[in-house]
This record gives sequence, C-alpha cells and structure tokens, in this order.
Amino acid sequence: MCGIVAYVGPKDAAPILLEGLQRLEYRGYDSAGVVVSNRGLKVRKVKGRVADLAKVVPVRFKGGLGIGHTRWATHGVPSDTNAHPHLSADERIAVVHNGIIENASDLRAKLEADGVVFASETDTEVLAHLIARGADENDTLEEAVRKALKSVVGTYGIAVIDAERPGEVVVARNGSPIVLGIGEKEMFAASDVAALVRYTRQVVHLEDGELAVLKADGFHTFASDARETAKEPLTVDWDAGHYDTGGYEHYLLKEISEQPETITRTMSGRLDERFHVAHLGGLNMDARETRSFRRVKIIGCGSAYYSGQIGAQLIEELARIPADAEPASEFRYRNPVVDPDTLYVAISQSGETYDTLAAVQELKRKGGRVIGIVNAVGSAIAREVDGGIYLHAGPEVSVASTKAFTSTSLAFALLALHLGRVRDLSPADGRRVVEGLRRLPGQIEEILTQGDKIAELAQKYAKHPSMMFVGRVRGYPVAREGAQKLKEISYVHAEAYPASELKHGPLALIGPDMPTVAIVPDDELLDKNLTTLGEIRARGGQVLMVGHREPDAKLADDVIVIPKNEIELDPILLTIPLQLLAYHAAVALGRDVDKPRNLAKSVTVE
Ligand code: G6P
Repeated sequence: MCGIVAYVGPKDAAPILLEGLQRLEYRGYDSAGVVVSNRGLKVRKVKGRVADLAKVVPVRFKGGLGIGHTRWATHGVPSDTNAHPHLSADERIAVVHNGIIENASDLRAKLEADGVVFASETDTEVLAHLIARGADENDTLEEAVRKALKSVVGTYGIAVIDAERPGEVVVARNGSPIVLGIGEKEMFAASDVAALVRYTRQVVHLEDGELAVLKADGFHTFASDARETAKEPLTVDWDAGHYDTGGYEHYLLKEISEQPETITRTMSGRLDERFHVAHLGGLNMDARETRSFRRVKIIGCGSAYYSGQIGAQLIEELARIPADAEPASEFRYRNPVVDPDTLYVAISQSGETYDTLAAVQELKRKGGRVIGIVNAVGSAIAREVDGGIYLHAGPEVSVASTKAFTSTSLAFALLALHLGRVRDLSPADGRRVVEGLRRLPGQIEEILTQGDKIAELAQKYAKHPSMMFVGRVRGYPVAREGAQKLKEISYVHAEAYPASELKHGPLALIGPDMPTVAIVPDDELLDKNLTTLGEIRARGGQVLMVGHREPDAKLADDVIVIPKNEIELDPILLTIPLQLLAYHAAVALGRDVDKPRNLAKSVTVE
C-alpha cells in the first residue's frame, strides 16, 4: 500500500526520505518519489523501486524540508507522471497522498472547467490544485489545506509543503494512518512507524479528522473544527533492528523462525499457574461482565480472518460460548444485527486494515462491545476498540502473515481460557490448557528443524499447477491458511475445503495433477480423515499429510510428523509446516517472497 514520509529540520531531507521509503517498501508499491524545498520545489519520481528513485536523486539535492511517497496505483497506471508528489500548476504546493478521493472526477471536471491543466491521471493531483487555488492571500498553509479538504469526499493521509513556507509541513488524516515522529530540533511524519524508528521512538498518532503542522522545533495538532488538540507522545518499543532480515535470506523466513519467541511474548505475564487462568488486563472487563456475553463474533481480513476461525473454535470448545468468524470486509456491508449480548472481536496485525476498522466503527455506532487482537500498538483499530490483547510479536515485515497468525491464534487460546474459567471450564482443564501453551514454543522449535525436509517436499509439490488443502473441524482453518500462504507467495493455485465436503464436489478435481495437502491431527476425527485420504488415493491423487503419526503407507505419499499438544492447541502447530511449505515453494519458483505481486501488507483503502 502507499507510503508517506515527511521531514523538516536542519539536515538534508532527501537521504532521510529515501531511507524512510525503503523501510516502507514491504507494504507493496509500484512507484516512488520525493520533493524537497530549496528556493523552489525540486521533484524526482519514477515508476519502479526506491533504489531506482535513489539513482535519479542527485547527491547535492539540498533542502531541509521534504516529503516522499511510495505509490500503489488506484487512479491511473503506474508511471513516472502518476507517481507522487503532485504539484499545483504554479509549482508552489506539493502533495503526497494515501487513500482514495471518491469525488476526484467531479472535482477534476470543475478545475478543468476553470482552466486547470492536469499533469497526471491521479485523484491526488486534485488536492494540489485545490490547496493552491482555494487559499486567500493571508491564509496559513494549515488553513489552505483545511479549506481544500472540506470539498473532498474519501479517505486520505496527506503531507503537504509550500515552496513559500520552507519551514513547515502540514499533514492530515482521514482513514489512512499518519504518525508524527518527534526528534531533536527536527520533526518527521510517516504513514507507518517503520519509517521513523531509525530516527526516533517518540511518536504521536493522528486521529481521523486531525491535521498537524510540523516545524523543526515542534508540532501542533488540530481537530477538524480547527481547535487545537492535546496529544501525548507514545514510545514505540520496536527499533530499527526489527526491520532487518537478521541474516536470513527473506523476512518471511526470519518471521517464521521467530515464532518460538513471538508466541512466548504473546503469553508472557498472562498465564496464572495457581488458578490456571489467563490475565488479560487490557480487556477492561470485570468478571461479571466477562460472564455476561452469550455469543462471540470475530471479524478480520485475510489471514486474520482464518486465525479468527481458529479462535471461534477455541472459544466454543473451552468456554462453551457460541462463536463464529466472518470476513470484516463482508460484515461491514451487510447491515449486521448488533446484539448487546455479543462480544465482538476485531483482529488485525497492522491495526490499520480499512475494512476491519470500518466494521469496528459500524459496531461502535450501533452500541456493540468490541475488543481488538492487534499487533501494532497505538494503531487505529487499537485506539477504536473498548479494550483488547496486544500480540507483542514485533513488526511483521513480509507481506504474508506468519508470526502474527500464530500469535493471534494463541491470543484466542488465552481469551478462551479467560472466558472459560469464569464459566464452566474446570481447574483441571484450565491446567491442561496452561501446560499445553507452555509447551508450544519448544514444539515449534522442533518443527522448524524439519526445514530442509519441507524444502524438498516443496520442490516436489510446487511443480503442480494446483493444490488442494483439506482439514476437518480444527484442521479446516489450518487448511485455509495453508492454501492462502501458498497462493499468496508462490502463485500456485490452491483450494481449501473441509475434508468432509470433498465428496460433495471438489473430488471431481482430484487426479495426478492435483495433489492434496491433508491436515490430519490425532484427534477424534482421525479415522474419518484417513478414509478421505483413501478416497483421494483411489482417484490417483497424491497426498502430503501433516499430522501426528505415520499412517498406513498406502494412504499418503509423504508425511510431515509434528509434535502433539492438546487437541485445542494443535492447530497452532499444524500451521507451521504449511508456512514453511509455502515459503520453500515460493523460493523454488523464484518468486519475490516478501513482496508478492498485487498484494499489500496492510490494505488501508476500501
Ligand atoms: C492484507 C494482507 C494479508 C493480511 C490482511 C489483514 O490483505 O495481504 O496478509 O492478512 O491484509 O491484515 P491485518 O493487518 O488487518 O491483519
């Protein structure tokens, strides 16, 4: 998704902007650009990578004020001219923008009727002209920006500079994140803290409707009615080291390998061995309230949604509360019935996914009680919800989610334990779950040692154009996440089905060209799953089984055996081999593992 970086201070802006943009590369983009102010605006922008941009930025690109951008095309193809920044016709105002201006074509038609000639096809350029033309002689840049935004419908995070005001940047947010970074006599802004952590850990998140004026010696923030707002800086605990590959070939492999530590962090300080409960202070709920819910509804997008399916099963099994998960992107559009006896849980690694945020806002408008399971501290969803559980998994840089997925599933186990122990989950079962959770990091470590074997299997199976993933009940969300990982990063077509549904349709696809990855845990459904394997093999289909023991040789061509935990927690472990399988398939096929085509790390537009 698009990225924004802004700087004002005593240093040259360009190297800081380029470095910041590089840190945002992981979010996905197709072009990049920067502008600095030094007796007029100097712009460089290119279709392609930040490295391509760096080549066209002269060494002596002087100026202590600048803004930069990585673009993910929405209005107009990826090209040099459509890349941001965009300038006003008099080249006084420069704008970078994330989000979508929905009434851009109307605004553009009006401006064109007034004689404005557009240089690009973007919605963003409208903003540059509006700011330049709408301002009165004595308006500050802040006033000019505010006036222009009044006529805009849509979402934005923007940064604006004016050639005539070389000491200030104005930024504004509506639906697209903007975070300010406070330095020593210098100020930064970006769409993601990743771009700031090299320079400062002191940050301020803007709320929707807020605008900020940044100067080298500080900042002021304003609500949409121009009243000044008071903001408390937050210290981020992620540092630049979190954004390095740490010696691994790809961020994805690093993040898969980190999971013993990341899930340890998610449970750290939250398990009580004496009463076999989970302490989740961030939920802001007393025992009476915790007991009051009659249903749990979970929403999230992509992998977050699949981990929500694991979560729903954990809650039903351990707390015996009816629970289900739904894509937030669907939920928000179907005018859902919001029930006061339901606990709503929004899941998001980034805390910025627009569909999930909009669903949370809709729930809040209707009086729903919403908690969040979020990784990014201080993010929009974290601020919007009534309480929640932070994952503490550290930044997830690779587009495909891995460690956030397992940490979210683990956070659900904690939530299920918490909800269960104020209801009917016995101390003995509570202890069983707590002990199971404690075993997980070591067991993940064990699975990771099978990396080489899984790499070989990936070579073998990735040759096929299509793969089927099946699992029953607890194994089904695991199959869905496995298929999602494979298609996201290797572009091999993958379908996920409940194993029980295979005979109701998709069995027609099975043949020598369509291998099946079967999730077969050692649980009460083992025999049923083995029967399914027999049906697949009888139709000439190859089977790669992931489970807890070797089956009869006739039932699987290959088996990945993993350690057994409690049945409710097994899904977390069953996911790990599938992450490795997708990773090694993508490497074998020569894909851009960390930045798969057409995808963005966090989708902050509709
Ligand atoms: C995008 C990413 C997915 C991710 C989803 C939700 O679609 O490509 O990998 O699962 O967003 O992201 P979130 O930050 O809300 O967990």
